Amino acid sequence: MELVAILVSTAVAVALSILYPRWQRDAEVRAIKKRHGCKDPIKYPHEDKVLGSDMVRLRTEAMKEGRFFKLYESQFEKYGRTFEEIWRGKPLINTTEPANVQQVAALAFEDYGKDPERLKAQSPFYGPSIFSDGPIWKHARGMVKPIFARAEISDLDHLASFADRFMELLPQDGSMIDVQPLLHRLFLDVSMDFLFGKSLNSLQPEVPADCTEFREAFTKAQKGVTQRREAGWFQFRLHRYNEDKDWKEAYTKVHRFVDGQVERALRETADLKPDSDDTGIRRRYVLLDEMAKEIRDPIALRYHVLGVFNPARDTTSIAVGNTLFQLARHPDVWAKLRQISLELGDAPLTFEKLKSLVYFRHVLHETIRVCGPAARVWRVAVRDTVLPLGGGPDQKSPVFVGRGTPVVLGTWSMNHDKGIWGDDVHEFKPDRWIGRKPLWEFVPFFGGPRICPAQQQVLTYAIYILVRLTQKFERMENCDPVFEYVERFSLSFESRNGVKVAFKTS
Ligand code: HEM
Repeated sequence: MELVAILVSTAVAVALSILYPRWQRDAEVRAIKKRHGCKDPIKYPHEDKVLGSDMVRLRTEAMKEGRFFKLYESQFEKYGRTFEEIWRGKPLINTTEPANVQQVAALAFEDYGKDPERLKAQSPFYGPSIFSDGPIWKHARGMVKPIFARAEISDLDHLASFADRFMELLPQDGSMIDVQPLLHRLFLDVSMDFLFGKSLNSLQPEVPADCTEFREAFTKAQKGVTQRREAGWFQFRLHRYNEDKDWKEAYTKVHRFVDGQVERALRETADLKPDSDDTGIRRRYVLLDEMAKEIRDPIALRYHVLGVFNPARDTTSIAVGNTLFQLARHPDVWAKLRQISLELGDAPLTFEKLKSLVYFRHVLHETIRVCGPAARVWRVAVRDTVLPLGGGPDQKSPVFVGRGTPVVLGTWSMNHDKGIWGDDVHEFKPDRWIGRKPLWEFVPFFGGPRICPAQQQVLTYAIYILVRLTQKFERMENCDPVFEYVERFSLSFESRNGVKVAFKTS
């Protein structure tokens, strides 16, 4: 009898210890929802209602077929600007509602962080950097932002020498070239030179062996990060297939290359103060050297500079490649750009001059809107919070976001929302930007405290190359039988069919 009583009271105690916190949590959530007038968002009708694996399958297939973002777009069209899915057994909120984007990026910035699982997956390669959260991010951000601001206006001479080499490598006889790989080489050299003070010389006929090794190792190491992020719960499988060894080898090679540059920067900046304007070494800004004035620990410095190299690697070249992709299909826009660039005559292409070329900016914005690179921004709520819109059948009520819930901002889908851009949303029309000042409905560089620090640099560099090309060539013809843009995911999303064009001087 006594034993039964003990068993019953133990069972009750166990049940209570499980149920009470749940009940308490439910009451807490109910109170927040009531206070803010929250309603549930529309739920994606999963076949697998427990893990949501059907969505993962759909996305994997779509990615293979080059229609990852089209799939997203169709889901937003069907379920509205905000819907909830089940991701790895937990709710995840997708949204393209500009007010929600503003909330996550700026108004409730402190309520969101990076995905801790993603940070963990990439940490052996990237370590703590601007891509981290909290004080590490804050420190890195404070250091990087002014370097970009100063470099933007001081750096064009050095871009010019790389651009000269790039122009020489284009066929002058009007024959076809896939210009995307050449653009990758150009901007790899430009960004390595700006970040590390050492170009990879990938536009030279003889590419140095250490540069090729670095490039290949980086690609492999980054692919390993993507695999680990995708593996989620199943990361142990990567160990089983012994892929870790290869991955470690790849990222160690990258570290070795970066460490060589870090050593040089520490040596050359040993006597310089953090706020010193004169590097005493170069006339232009090298990000690593500027960072080295502040961070003297070589390992910390390695991760900080790698953190900036990662987003720099292919993004600008894809933006310019995508613009040429569109211009090859819209010769009238090329002609308009050429007229503007010829009117510049021999005027030096200064930062201010390039910034004043408004129509070039419209063309770039329209390209980025139509085909990227702009994808998704992924955040996780670090505390209970609320999105202003997306709840209820009309999606006009606030939505409760529990701590730990991922919120994915579909910036690509927002750029293809008929409600924002009109029925011609899929057409390339730079003129739609005339007189338009985008707010939160167009954030390819994101917004708020974590806005891309390179935004102005990217636009300036891209416009510079477009001016040089349109000044030199009268026309650019499309040589690709496939008219539409098909995406491919390598390290970023880019054109699967490349950018096959012919530059014509008459
Ligand atoms: C077309 C080109 C580019 C686009 C569309 C772009 C877009 C973005 C976006 C959307 C973010 C926010 C990501 C997030 O918080 O999850 C971001 C952050 C960042 N980007 Fe870019 N980017 C471009 C080029 C570059 C380049 C060339 C560099 C470096 C030279 C760069 C450096 C960074 C850094 C360091 C961050 C992190 C900022 C922070 O978290 O405070 N980006 N970029």
